Amino acid sequence: MLVLGIESSCDETGVALYDTELGLLAHQLHTQIAMHSEYGGVVPELASRDHIRRVLPLTTACLTEAQRQLSDIDAIAYTAGPGLAGALLVGASVANAMAFALNKPTIAVHHLEGHLLSPCLADPAPQFPFVALLVSGGHTQLMAVHGVGHYELLGETVDDAAGEAFDKSAKLLGLGYPGGPALSKLADTGDATRFTLPRPMLHSGSLDMSFSGLKTAVLNLVTQQSKEAPLDDATRADICAAFQEAIVEVLVKKSLAALKQTGMQRLVIAGGVGANRQLRAALNDAAKKRKLEVFYPPMALCTDNGAMIAYAGAQRLKFQQSAGSFAIQPRWDLA
Ligand code: KG4
Ligand code: ZN
Repeated sequence: MLVLGIESSCDETGVALYDTELGLLAHQLHTQIAMHSEYGGVVPELASRDHIRRVLPLTTACLTEAQRQLSDIDAIAYTAGPGLAGALLVGASVANAMAFALNKPTIAVHHLEGHLLSPCLADPAPQFPFVALLVSGGHTQLMAVHGVGHYELLGETVDDAAGEAFDKSAKLLGLGYPGGPALSKLADTGDATRFTLPRPMLHSGSLDMSFSGLKTAVLNLVTQQSKEAPLDDATRADICAAFQEAIVEVLVKKSLAALKQTGMQRLVIAGGVGANRQLRAALNDAAKKRKLEVFYPPMALCTDNGAMIAYAGAQRLKFQQSAGSFAIQPRWDLA
């Protein structure tokens, strides 16, 4: 079965072709980062318009890359939510129009399920069951994944998502959009011991997390440090390093606690923050000491992409869970 996947939930248009026998045949991506950066964040209306412009050329490029025809496609998966309503409608409309013309089924995919299953596109892929740490710009959750469609929410952020905390802190430090990669890059040059930032809910006893206090602590530190003179580059880098150290410690400790609670041995990291090098190093280190296995999506598939949607759609097809209706759900809980 050949599945076309379309992702358009936020600021990335992603299209991919996944073959259930041959694996990922092609994936094409257009990021709107440059377009939104002058506004300091995603402008929903501009995002929708750009998805409209990109989705068909990316589909053609995918077919060319995979050396396939439109008529070879067996099903079309699209991100139905959660995300920006107008942006989701672009992917949903194109997927449903194409499916209607080709007389093929559509599969409405949950964006987070796409992220959650994306490490299965790596080699080696994790076996079920596993604990998944979903860390994106909109979500931070720990899930017990028993199989495709069998997800159990173990804990989540009670306020900001981890990616959001990265982005907002980066903005306070005058770094570009999206802040996560910029803050992380600067953190690599900083001294993490100069400032100590809080680790909210680290010892709460639950698997829930909180990151808005950390962001406020960055704001207070920036205000205090820039009282006399504007922040110099070294101070900025030291704040980044302290921030990254705090957030990574919380994510690692909560992930280990989730593994302990479930008795599972495998941890999967998914979502944009999963690209963070310090988080990966800390998790690998912790796993090695405890004989646990950690799995990541291929680096290029950490942030939003069509490949994870095509893959999740293909899995849904396999388990006869296709939705088949024109639907978007801007707000939608996975478990
Ligand atoms: O999964 P994703 O592409 O989109 C959502 O579904 O939200 O995640 C985007 C988030 C942004 O907040 C971005 O700043 C963050 O992932 N991010 C990172 C890194 N790369 C992307 N955060 C920290 N370090 C990185 N290297
Ligand atoms: Zn995402």
